Amino acid sequence: MRAAIRRRYGGPDAIAFDDVPDPTPDPGEVLVRVHATTVNRTDCAYRSGHPWINRVVCGWPRPRVEVLGSEFAGVVLDVGEGVTAYDPGDRVFGFVDGRPGAHAEMLTVAADGLLAPVPAHLDPAEAAPGMEGGHYAHAFLRVTGVGEGDRALVHGATGAIGTALVQLLHAAGVEVTAVCDQIPTGRPGLLADLGATRVVDLGSGEHLRSAGAGYDSVLDATGHLSFTAARPLLRQGGSYASSDLGRGAQNLALAAIGPITRRLGLRHVLFPFPHGGADLAAHLAELMAGGRYRPVVDRTYGFDELRDAYAYVDAGRKVGSVVVLVPTA
Ligand SMILES: NC(=O)c1ccc[n+]([C@@H]2O[C@H](COP(=O)([O-])OP(=O)(O)OC[C@H]3O[C@@H](n4cnc5c(N)ncnc54)[C@H](OP(=O)(O)O)[C@@H]3O)[C@@H](O)[C@H]2O)c1
Repeated sequence: MRAAIRRRYGGPDAIAFDDVPDPTPDPGEVLVRVHATTVNRTDCAYRSGHPWINRVVCGWPRPRVEVLGSEFAGVVLDVGEGVTAYDPGDRVFGFVDGRPGAHAEMLTVAADGLLAPVPAHLDPAEAAPGMEGGHYAHAFLRVTGVGEGDRALVHGATGAIGTALVQLLHAAGVEVTAVCDQIPTGRPGLLADLGATRVVDLGSGEHLRSAGAGYDSVLDATGHLSFTAARPLLRQGGSYASSDLGRGAQNLALAAIGPITRRLGLRHVLFPFPHGGADLAAHLAELMAGGRYRPVVDRTYGFDELRDAYAYVDAGRKVGSVVVLVPTA
């Protein structure tokens, strides 16, 4: 099968297309014919090997796993021994964290992993971006426990994680203030449409302070904020969480004492370690089927344009997700 591979860590020019052996499903796995995939920040980190922690997953000093890609939608071709949840012909979408392989015509995935049936009204290109941002966003809700009637501020609301987070919070009954660096060109109402009650546009000169104070949680989906910057926005006992480690991995260090400061009723830091399998995938698929979570697509590229897609995502200014169509004929 044809696949996008990289045999060294590097920029988009490290990507090559090659024929590699067709994968076969092990027990508990399904074989998927990929119709659409995405290029996301996880893929960029696996491709470049930065931050260095990614080399623990992908190999040191050279990539152990050569095929790139983590998010996909397509059709089940075959199932491994013991798989009862899926049959050949089923339309599925999912995310393989820590074991790339979706930038290819086929991949194998664990049937009990982040995998779910594609909601009936969506095509693969619409479903493919549903899982990466959604599962990282869900980690924010799980770790902070924000819910019905709470107030949360999302910093970086226009990214893949941010756009998913605004929607998941809104679906959970949380009042959301969305902060972005720039309102997406041609989509002025995007964040309100996703469920934000209030939008703070830093790019137009608004200051973060104008978002007010007293938030139950400040959720940073950019890595550009810090606990120090978030503190004035939080109520006493409120939480700060970031999808990024922060300068000097401070978000991890502060999260180590977060449960203690939380018990003391102080403002505290929590880290949204992502985890979850079929249950979370089913939850996201259900929200998508009910129209309460709609992955936002910025651009769509052809498979041969994959390097361009990576260069665009590297720039850090995408709105939602970048989809890549994989030829099926
Ligand atoms: N914990 C994990 O496992 C994990 C996994 C994936 C990603 N991440 C991290 O999570 C973060 C977001 O990921 P993503 O996939 O959502 O990325 P993304 O789709 O590329 O979004 C990046 C966001 O950052 C905003 N931004 C860029 N420059 C900014 C600046 N100078 N000030 C404020 N905002 C800025 C962008 O919005 P504007 O254009 O409006 O500025 C956009 O909303 C990244 O830092 C990434 O490293 C963590």
